[in-house]
Amino acid sequence: MTYQQTKQWIVDGNVDNYPNDTQIQEVAEYIKNNQVVAFPTETVYGLGGNARSDQAIDKIFQAKGRPSDNPLIVHISSKSQLAEYVENITDNAKQLIEAFWPGPLTIVLPHNGKLSPKVTAGLSTVAVRMPDHPVALAIIEAAGLPIAAPSANRSGRPSPTTAAHVTQDLDGKIAGVVDGGATGVGVESTVVDCTTEKVMILRPGGITKEALEQVVGEVLQDPALTEEEEAPKSPGMKYTHYAPSAPLILVDGDINFLRKNVLASKQEGKRVGTLLTQEHQGLSEADKEVIIGSKEYLPEVARALYEALRGFEANEVDIIYSEVFPETDLGSAIMNRLRKAAGGKILQQK
Ligand code: TXA
Ligand code: MG
Repeated sequence: MTYQQTKQWIVDGNVDNYPNDTQIQEVAEYIKNNQVVAFPTETVYGLGGNARSDQAIDKIFQAKGRPSDNPLIVHISSKSQLAEYVENITDNAKQLIEAFWPGPLTIVLPHNGKLSPKVTAGLSTVAVRMPDHPVALAIIEAAGLPIAAPSANRSGRPSPTTAAHVTQDLDGKIAGVVDGGATGVGVESTVVDCTTEKVMILRPGGITKEALEQVVGEVLQDPALTEEEEAPKSPGMKYTHYAPSAPLILVDGDINFLRKNVLASKQEGKRVGTLLTQEHQGLSEADKEVIIGSKEYLPEVARALYEALRGFEANEVDIIYSEVFPETDLGSAIMNRLRKAAGGKILQQK
């Protein structure tokens, strides 16, 4: 489906006005009419559609070019709404919801069949979250529907953290975009399986393993996150993701090692890009450096990551080298995304 024009709403910054905001009301009408609209959440922009409508869900998959076996996250605006769509809420899930909702935590539970089967790609479980963003919550509330929303990028591209990123990928392919400014967290929600006795992380994200463990004790990780030969339990984790406009290689070593690799590629006549922390700005000898925050403050790196991955125009460079980050706290999510963006390519300093 193509649109002559993808409508743009620039929403009022005053949260108190949302219940009567004519723009929010209009966006809600689009959702109720099974149109798909991109809107901000605290993590990344989502491409939202009525989670009870096959027709709306088809439009989401089509606009993104997303494989239909990759299920979507359902967004709700109150904790009590969860009970309408799941079979039962496990004790673990209850504790995590109390601690982290609204927020960047997605909970997988058995569903009760009331959503479009296309949302769950035919699985017996559904992934649900309550976003911590006033615009997202106002739209869900005004529509009075659960809203399925994957990240609002073309499949395979870096996720969008601004309305401009959404437009780059989906202009003319979706009915509209709600511009609510840049998102805060910058990487997607953590997805946890709560159907088993011990909670298992299927996708690292905005809520860290360390924070989850403070609430429910030991938390497992899907072995596929670290072992390449394992099949992931979260279907979306098996696809290429977040790819920048040139091949990306991670460099696990000091700045001198990174510079050596840059110079070697330049010797081969390649134009080289680097993704660098601000501590190393100007030190890589690359043709173009894109800065991704400070090594000392991972939330800033998470926020800057996708914009940085979109920071090289098509044909601007032939190869991109990136620094790596410690895999604790938010570093797990950052490294998970970087590894995928690099297709697993990593150089290790001896
Ligand atoms: O922060 C976020 O989670 C963003 C914003 C828009 O809310 N959404 C997002 O959606 O990242 P998406 O579709 O790009 O990623 C959803 C992930 C995929 O890896 C998918 O396979 C997994 O959640 N997922 C969805 N339903 C699942 C289920 N029933 N069981 C296991 N994994 C599931
Ligand atoms: Mg995505």
